Amino acid sequence: MAEEIFVSPKKKGRIAVFLSGRGSNFRAIHEAITAGKINASVALVFSNVEAAPGLLTARERGLETFYLNPKLFPNREEYDKEAVRQVRKRDVDLVCLAGYMRILSPYFCREFKSRCLNIHPALLPSFPGLHVQQKAIDWGVKFSGATVHFVAEEVDMGPIVIQAMVPVLQDDTEETLAARILVEEHKIYPEAVRLFFEGRLEVRGRRVFIRDA
Ligand code: GRF
Repeated sequence: MAEEIFVSPKKKGRIAVFLSGRGSNFRAIHEAITAGKINASVALVFSNVEAAPGLLTARERGLETFYLNPKLFPNREEYDKEAVRQVRKRDVDLVCLAGYMRILSPYFCREFKSRCLNIHPALLPSFPGLHVQQKAIDWGVKFSGATVHFVAEEVDMGPIVIQAMVPVLQDDTEETLAARILVEEHKIYPEAVRLFFEGRLEVRGRRVFIRDA
């Protein structure tokens, strides 16, 4: 079977950001947009957490927000069907998960295949899951970092777009390492979104090529 190739669209894009918490990656992406570095707009900021500080920031910035209560749905797939409906209604080209603390259903992953990015605070495929900064320290690795990847059905395992590396220092705590990694997250996530809408991300199987790099 021929390998499936996806090339990201070159256009002024519409983004939906999904978040559950403070939303610093959302802010970094939005600020890159307002600075004219990314050819896109934030069409929606979506959350599964009503009190997420990131939602508040979005409202303060005049962006449309949507909170969807998970308790109103019998299962993950039904919840995600409504989430997908909300995203589609706004004619969104790319979903950016930015601290969205809810596992996506296979349905959602299929609907947005190659159109959904996530940021993870470790060098995948090492340390998928949660509390990964502490896991990196406990394992004794000398370097960790951040990964922007396309979302696939297997959690944290989709094609990798960009990674940034940071040293793990002897006296690091979970907090100090997380802070060092976060600085890099705020650089590589906007960069990945920029490349996406410049039509420069080419996904071939597991590998992502950056055109004209
Ligand atoms: C980041 O560390 C990100 O890598 C992870 O969740 C955290 C979200 O932080 N997926 P923020 O809400 O973007 O500040």
